[in-house]
Amino acid sequence: MSFRIAPSLLSANFAKLGEEVANVIASGADWIHFDVMDNHYVPNLTIGPLVCEAIRPCTTAPIDVHLMVKPVDRIVPDFAKAGADIITFHPEGSEHVDRSLGLIRDSGCKAGLVFNPATPLTWMDHVMDKLDVVLLMSVNPGYGGQSFIPGTLDKLREARAKIDAYTARTGRQILLEIDGGVKVDNIAEIARAGADTFVAGSAVFGAGRDADPHRYDSVLASL
Ligand code: DX5
Ligand code: ZN
Repeated sequence: MSFRIAPSLLSANFAKLGEEVANVIASGADWIHFDVMDNHYVPNLTIGPLVCEAIRPCTTAPIDVHLMVKPVDRIVPDFAKAGADIITFHPEGSEHVDRSLGLIRDSGCKAGLVFNPATPLTWMDHVMDKLDVVLLMSVNPGYGGQSFIPGTLDKLREARAKIDAYTARTGRQILLEIDGGVKVDNIAEIARAGADTFVAGSAVFGAGRDADPHRYDSVLASL
């Protein structure tokens, strides 16, 4: 299985976002995870399509837009135009999940559903043909720097079984991404439970981030 690390910009230095993006990719990260919070669906307010467009020229790596917004549909075309590669959303934020997934795919992006700790995996059952990514939250969405919720490991195993059964039947791959509280000391266990794509915010953009341009090399190598 191949693995991807997707540093979350939420913990980056917002005054130097372009540099942060370029440095973290040069240090070995695979995707840029872009957390969009609307102070409505989640209790925080972050960045939108204008910032996505601004960082787009800083890297050729995929930009993984995690929408924590309600409603979902009307912001999708703006992110597609701003250069997003992957757009994921929470089913609770959409009136029509199948339509939102179709909208994302029609805009040329890969599409995914995000599952909060209490959101049942059954939401994926009837839309698997439209999923490129399944993202499990291992914290409640809204903030970086929270602790990994241990029950997510069982949920990961359950999601991995569903995805593997689907892939065996159809030959189509779906990535299994994990987001929240991923650290050097728990990433191996999380990988064993079935995740193949790892979001890490505070673990990557943590202490000493302004020390030197290669500051992410060692943390990424240890993840
Ligand atoms: C939480 C966000 C996460 C968060 C991860 O709502 O979706 O992407 O920034 O940050 P850490 O790795 O610090 O938990
Ligand atoms: Zn996220």
